[in-house]
Order: sequence, then C-alpha cells, then structure tokens
Amino acid sequence: METSTLPKAQGEAKDFMPINGTDYVELYVGNSKQAAHFYKTAFGFQSHAYAGLETGLKDRESYVVIQDKIRLILTSPLKSGTEIGKHIDKHGDGVKVVALWVDDATYAYETAIAKGARSYMEPKVEEDNDGKVVRSGIYTYGETVHIFVERKDYNGTFLPGYKKWETPDYNPEPVGLKYVDHMVGNVGWNKMNHWVAFYENVMGFKNILSFDDNDISTEYTALMSKVMSNGNGRIKFPINEPAEGKKKSQVEEYLDFYEGEGVQHVAVATDDIIKTVRQLRSRGVEFLRVPATYYDAVTDRVGKIDEDIAPLKELGILVDRDDEGYLLQIFTRPVEPRPTMFFEIIQRKGAQSFGKGNFKALFEAIEREQELRGTLH
Ligand code: FE2
Repeated sequence: METSTLPKAQGEAKDFMPINGTDYVELYVGNSKQAAHFYKTAFGFQSHAYAGLETGLKDRESYVVIQDKIRLILTSPLKSGTEIGKHIDKHGDGVKVVALWVDDATYAYETAIAKGARSYMEPKVEEDNDGKVVRSGIYTYGETVHIFVERKDYNGTFLPGYKKWETPDYNPEPVGLKYVDHMVGNVGWNKMNHWVAFYENVMGFKNILSFDDNDISTEYTALMSKVMSNGNGRIKFPINEPAEGKKKSQVEEYLDFYEGEGVQHVAVATDDIIKTVRQLRSRGVEFLRVPATYYDAVTDRVGKIDEDIAPLKELGILVDRDDEGYLLQIFTRPVEPRPTMFFEIIQRKGAQSFGKGNFKALFEAIEREQELRGTLH
C-alpha cells in the first residue's frame, strides 16, 4: 500500500549517514596491559587482538578485548610527549574513540565534513594479507572522536596492523554482555543544543527523547538531557548538560574531573541481567546502590514483571516502564580514579527509553557518593 510505505521510504531516503552499528570503543589509559586484564577478569571480556612493539609500533601499545559484539581497545603510550600521553594527563583514563561501522568510510567522512564536522583523520586505507579496511575520523564533543570503519573487504581478526592476541592459559567466562546499547556524552553549560544540532546536521540523527531539569533533578542537583538516534536506531547518544541546583550537578563534577567534555557512560546490553550482575559483583565490579526502600514501591510503579523482586533488590537492579514495555538497569561506580566514566548494564524487555522513572533514586545515590568525595557543595 503506497500510503503506508511512503513515510518509511522517505525516512530511509533522509538517512544520509547510514551506520550499521558500533564498531569499537577505544579508551586511552595509563596501563593498557593491566586495563585489558581488568576488563577480562572483572567484566568477562576475551583476549582478541594486539598491536605494539611486536607488530612494529614504536609509540603505543593497544590490547583489544571482545565480548559478543562489544570490542574495547585499551591504548597506552610507550614514551613521553605523545598525543595519547597528553590526553591521559589531562583527562585521566577515558574514551577517546567511538567508532562507527559504515559501508563507505570515505563517503561518511566527506559528507560529515561538507556538513560542518571538524576533521580528525582523512580517509586512510590500511591493508594486510587478510584484506583492507578504510577508516576516517571527525571530532565530536571535547577531544572525543568518531572513527568511521569500512571493513567489508576485510577478513582478519580485527584491523590491519593488529595480530591475534591469544591467552590460552587465561580466559575467564563471559558474563553475558552482548552489544553497546547507548553511549552518553557530558557537555558543558548551555552546550547540549549545540551538540544536538551537530548530530542532526552533520550525522542525520534525530532527537528522540528530551529531559529537562524538572525531569532530572533531586532536592539538590540537576541536569538536562536529549537523546539522539541514527536512522536505524542502532546508535543512540544521549547528550547531558549540567543544570543549576542547590549543589553541584554530577555532570559538572564530571566536567571538572575530566577537564572537559567526554563520554560519561557506556551502556551494554544483556539478556539476563540478574545472572550478569551476580557474576560482575563476584568478580569485583562495584555498583551504585539505591536504598532498599526503592523496592517497596517498585511493583506499584512498573506493574507486573517476569523477574522476582528479591534478586533485583539483593543486587540493586532498577526497573522502569514505558509505553512499549519495561527495562532493567544498573550503573557501576566510575572505573578509574577520577569520578568520570562508568558503565551501565541494561536489559530491555520492550522498553526503548532510558529509565526516567529511576533518575531520582539514582541521582540521590550519586549524590551520596559525591558527598563522600567532597564534591557536593
Ligand atoms: Fe544510560
């Protein structure tokens, strides 16, 4: 029927920046070897690929770890005075690259640049015996970058220049993490709409949800957020900015400690959050806790769910419902010394939203941690 197919066809025609999914997330860290070990031991990632002195690199070392569709690169410099070293000195450990899997990295780059993006890396062909990959890159908020990865002509382990990293004596069990659900950016005061416009104009994303400081505030602190999504919905980037409250917003605390804008959290999906969180906790991953009273009203708020409340309460897993279903979620404490980047574990059961009903309980939990750090004033 023409009338029903037309809007969809128009929508597809408007997606001038087709993206297949998240390709990898690269973190610049002080000690890539130990960070890789942490993500294996604590988060259940597997050894995947390596680049460094043994592959001909002179200035850096990278370990790639993998769990289902999630690939993390942990990169450290091998000498002083490098861009990577300066990044770590300024920001601490954090996300440098959010890489996006595309069919044509040259087209993606040229389109983004024509629409006003700032260049990070011109299209570059990298080849080895397993084929070729084209990568290009643009800046987003702060010093964070998007790299477009075109890998349709490549059959190797990860990327040209990397060798397979095998650790037959040590590969902890995965914990059931499947794919990157969304990644959140913290941007400066009054900068949210600037970056919303960037994702709309440069990347063709749409603003699918908005939260103002009335939605996201406690007695003390506040923030605002808009969620940007690409055409097929596989990439979702909520953008947060601080809002005025009686005390310091958690976004402002992040901006102070990261010394700029950057990735606040990486949300990773699981099909069984109770099992996943139980394993993560037993391996030493630390989570934010909400008060036990959160669970007194949870059934009234979200209605009937498949899970028993007891294990959710025991593990501190949060529940929220929207028009399409419900979701279960939990947040780790920051995974580096500075109170900056953390992970969210999320299980969606129909809901496509982000847990608005949990914001208040969650932010009160964050405020208790800010209080301990002496940054809530
Ligand atoms: Fe999130």
